[in-house]
Amino acid sequence: MSEYGIFLPIANGGWLVSETAPHPDGSYDYNKKAAVMAEDADMDFVMSMGKWKGFGGSTDHWGRTLESMTMMAGIAEATSRVKIWATVHANVHNPVVAAKMFTTIDQISHGRAGMNIVSGAYADEFIQMGHWDASLSKEARYRMVDEWTEAVTRLWTEDSVTMDGEFFTLTDAESRPHPVVPPTIISAGNSAAGRDFQARRSNGAFLSGATMEELRDSSRDVHERAAALGREVKTYGMLTVVMAETDAAAEKRVDEIGVGVDREALANMRVSWGMPRDRVSSWTESATGHDAFQTPYVFGSPDTVVGHINTVVEGAELDGLMIIFPDYLEDLPAFGELVMPVLRAQDAAKAAGA
Ligand SMILES: Cc1cc2nc3c(=O)[nH]c(=O)nc-3n(C[C@H](O)[C@H](O)[C@H](O)COP(=O)(O)O)c2cc1C
Repeated sequence: MSEYGIFLPIANGGWLVSETAPHPDGSYDYNKKAAVMAEDADMDFVMSMGKWKGFGGSTDHWGRTLESMTMMAGIAEATSRVKIWATVHANVHNPVVAAKMFTTIDQISHGRAGMNIVSGAYADEFIQMGHWDASLSKEARYRMVDEWTEAVTRLWTEDSVTMDGEFFTLTDAESRPHPVVPPTIISAGNSAAGRDFQARRSNGAFLSGATMEELRDSSRDVHERAAALGREVKTYGMLTVVMAETDAAAEKRVDEIGVGVDREALANMRVSWGMPRDRVSSWTESATGHDAFQTPYVFGSPDTVVGHINTVVEGAELDGLMIIFPDYLEDLPAFGELVMPVLRAQDAAKAAGA
């Protein structure tokens, strides 16, 4: 069974960087409504990212952002079935603090918690808080994340943890009560070091790729690395879905989104990813409406969207998808009514035939 969820728009603007796109405001009320709608649409999970600084531009993209774990605690109370995946920065939150925060979400959600562990790779977010270690290579950062994860998972199961690691020191550290259901470990890395961590420590891995082949290769790599360790890790991709009654109407929505692409915000985003300013300037000049979308996207009528989703899930050998909508509150009901039942029926037919 493939799993489907939504990437909650915890930051204003969601994943469309454009003046002419719908603009989710990033508020708790908006996110709560979207999460409840995703649950009503029979989706499997809702996830929010952790983000500490936005990208400016005419849309002030991601300038207004709530905190992931506290927002998801509220959403856990507002829902009853959907899995609740919150993001934690291993470079910011001490493992003893994080272990307790997720135990708290475990209790509020009654066993639906998931912990998306990120390493904190974007310098600007941490320089602003005096918390950026420029000497840390990517490999070292993943060693830190690995040690952090070991600390948190041990705190969830052992009454006392003593650890003298390269990055963390715990002395007779306690974190009781333990979670009733240990939170699902999610990781959204993309490098070889990231995939190695995903295979060894995570239950679910978010992957990205410039092409479907790249995404498939990453998915295979994580599946194979995990299998070699006798583990099973589910792989997920991200997909923006622009749906309308007809293909033509959906294409019109895509075109409208592209018209107001916010080049300044996109440029700032690339600088934060580490792209040199001069390369960013030439990239910005050539940016098109397509670049308003931060992830791969598909568009069309409900039937067409089902076809595209099948192509992506099967073509990239994924176990699930995290879906982004231009306007969650407008788009989720139709997706729940016209797309999810078809995807579920297809999966059930496959399972029955298997
Ligand atoms: C689905 C998804 C969610 C992510 N969420 C966050 C996040 O909330 N905060 C963050 O700092 N980075 C986030 N990232 C970035 C990753 O943690 C990671 O730094 C990035 O994918 C590059 O991979 P690498 O660290 O293996 O090079 C996310 C990436 C993906 C694909």
